Amino acid sequence: MKTMGDHQLKTNRFNCLPEFCGVVLLCIVSIANAQKMPGLAETPPMGWNSWNHFGCNIDEELIRQTADAIVATGLRDAGYEYLNLDDCWHGDRDEDGFIQPDADRFPSGIKALADYVHERGLKFGIYSDAGRTTCGGRPGSQGYEFQDALQYARWGVDYLKYDWCATGEGAAQRNPIEAYTTMRDALSAAGRPIVFSICEWGDSEPWTWATDIGHLWRTTGDIINCWDCEIGHGNWSSWGIMRILDMQDGLRQFAGPGHWNDPDMMEVGNLESPGENRAHFAMWAMLAAPLIIGTDVRDLNPEILEILTNPGIVAIDQDPLGIQGFAHRRERDFEIWVRPLEDGDWAVAFLNRGDESRRESFDFAGEHIEDALTGRRPDFGNEYQVIDLWTGDEAGSTRQPLAVTVGPRDVRIYQLEASSK
Ligand code: GLA
Repeated sequence: MKTMGDHQLKTNRFNCLPEFCGVVLLCIVSIANAQKMPGLAETPPMGWNSWNHFGCNIDEELIRQTADAIVATGLRDAGYEYLNLDDCWHGDRDEDGFIQPDADRFPSGIKALADYVHERGLKFGIYSDAGRTTCGGRPGSQGYEFQDALQYARWGVDYLKYDWCATGEGAAQRNPIEAYTTMRDALSAAGRPIVFSICEWGDSEPWTWATDIGHLWRTTGDIINCWDCEIGHGNWSSWGIMRILDMQDGLRQFAGPGHWNDPDMMEVGNLESPGENRAHFAMWAMLAAPLIIGTDVRDLNPEILEILTNPGIVAIDQDPLGIQGFAHRRERDFEIWVRPLEDGDWAVAFLNRGDESRRESFDFAGEHIEDALTGRRPDFGNEYQVIDLWTGDEAGSTRQPLAVTVGPRDVRIYQLEASSK
């Protein structure tokens, strides 16, 4: 029988050592098989993020206090589980290229901070950018994706928001599919379950390409704490709540368990009136949006806490079917939204965008509500109990018209409970 000679034992037709080839092949195979982490974000992620309220002004003391407040206020028990650092936690890379935190602001290091957060039954998130620098001018991950993912996994990170600044201009701009796929593969190779939040502002319509890459994708530019404004910053704008809501049209077919449209982190608690805060929260729930709190939870007004922890509205957002709601009827300044829920239930929201109070008698029997995407429609031949989600009270049944009064810039939201369950 022909046996391999010494030379053939040590090398093969690729002319490399067997062990080394094995490692390389393993890497190639694992990258070729890379997929986004399965089983995460089966319902829209809920948590807190530092950016909307604190911007770059963050440090480890704030994050520890926030972790404690999320527990003490009951926000954790209401479902808010991720505590996410946004931009500006970064220092420099070390001599081996590993990213380090800003040593003045995070002297105990990120691992210790993640441990503190985990000990309180929460998960820990971090932020980076697909370009050379973040939007705040800190080191980005371009060219360091696998090393950064490894570092995050070592620290115990559970969520990565990945931004799109400094990715080049015009023809020289980085390809977003390549950029986000590279980081997805890096996270996959690092092996830790990390929710991957794509923050590319909707520019290249990530809903058309990111289902297998990220768990959520921003659909718009940045949100800001006003009802219906556009604030220009030269070549980009930030948008009020109603503007962002309008930009969600046409996107519902792309959302579902594990892959969500992200109309940006909430400004609940940062808006002027209780009504505006209520309307923002309820509409994000109708959209099956990630519920990421963007206010200071260490000093939360009880009314805002009540909004954020409303169990019925949180349950609508987290409905396991994950079917995004839609506008059933739109008039000037007044909209009626519906959303199909598990077990044949429906959510109905009456949104008053204007400055005058609005009264409506909503006669279910006369309404033809149909979800064109899934073919679902409520059968008003059967009776549904109508629950007012702000008060938790029964508001009659669908056999009678519902009398609804909605204050200026406010919402009324109801759950229709199928009695045949
Ligand atoms: C971009 C993002 C924001 C925030 C900032 C941080 O503008 O869209 O959500 O992360 O960067 O610099």
